[in-house]
Amino acid sequence: MTISRTYHDVEGSVYILPADKAETERLSLQHRVLTRSFRDRLWTAPLDIQQLEGADVLDNATGSGAWLFDLAKRCKDAGVTAGHLIGTDMTDKQFPQLKLQDVGAKSDGAPSLQIANALALPKEWTNRFTLAHQRLLTFALTASEWPRCLSELHRVIKPGGYVELSETAHTLFKYPIGTPGDRFVQQHLFPLMDHLGLSKVLPTTMEEMLIEAGFVDVRIVEVDIPLNEKRGAEAKEASRNFHDAFCAFSEAVVKAGLVSADETGHRALIDAVRNQWNREDVHHKFVAWSARKP
Ligand SMILES: C[S@@+](CC[C@H](N)C(=O)[O-])C[C@H]1O[C@@H](n2cnc3c(N)ncnc32)[C@H](O)[C@@H]1O
Repeated sequence: MTISRTYHDVEGSVYILPADKAETERLSLQHRVLTRSFRDRLWTAPLDIQQLEGADVLDNATGSGAWLFDLAKRCKDAGVTAGHLIGTDMTDKQFPQLKLQDVGAKSDGAPSLQIANALALPKEWTNRFTLAHQRLLTFALTASEWPRCLSELHRVIKPGGYVELSETAHTLFKYPIGTPGDRFVQQHLFPLMDHLGLSKVLPTTMEEMLIEAGFVDVRIVEVDIPLNEKRGAEAKEASRNFHDAFCAFSEAVVKAGLVSADETGHRALIDAVRNQWNREDVHHKFVAWSARKP
């Protein structure tokens, strides 16, 4: 497997996935897949879109800004004039060329995408946001960085405001031993996660970490996303999305020097995993946590 993708160049970050056009397209597809799975909701916190009138919203580690653009459109459709809609990421490699105004955001202030590290958000943002959203940093933050990230989110949310997180729980999924899924997880994914200090049990520790960061009223919503393509067009999209992510993981494993660069072997394994998803009707579990800053 040749290293064909473009990655971020942020020093100190362990983030695994590429930061190129193909990954930007995958993030758009993934946004569709995930939003649909959460019954077309952008958040699970008990917050009505009307409550965003005049409110500042943060999308931390926004990637391509898919969630934020969707929010801007929904605010417009609902006749809500939010305050500032801000997307941050440690790199701008996947920021769209499009300005939020182009998709019809009706923000009074200047909506913006800017570079900021989730571990050190701007000092002047203390007590600012009514809603802070963050999705899919499982493969970006080490186990020891998570408390700092949650503490930063707590700092920038205003009292009474909400944090909304969502992450994959597929690392907890038990494929039957010796099957392709199990081999992929045990021989590729977990060694890579161990090598980088990532948490393989993040979903089981998140609630406690949120409480330790000072949040209250933690709510948890789990969804199961079918990956069996025989279930129809939506499952096909989900399967394509996670298959592409698995390909990127495999390249990351090779890049880290943890397995040989045997091109056909890796592809064959990932294709066998996909066949297993169809054969055994595998689902990909995702979890959303919402919590309030008192
Ligand atoms: C899997 S992508 C998810 C993007 C977006 N949240 C979404 O769901 O479409 C993870 C993103 O986190 C960003 N990231 C990784 N580590 C970060 C950090 N320490 N601070 C800010 N952004 C980070 C990456 O650059 C990437 O854009």
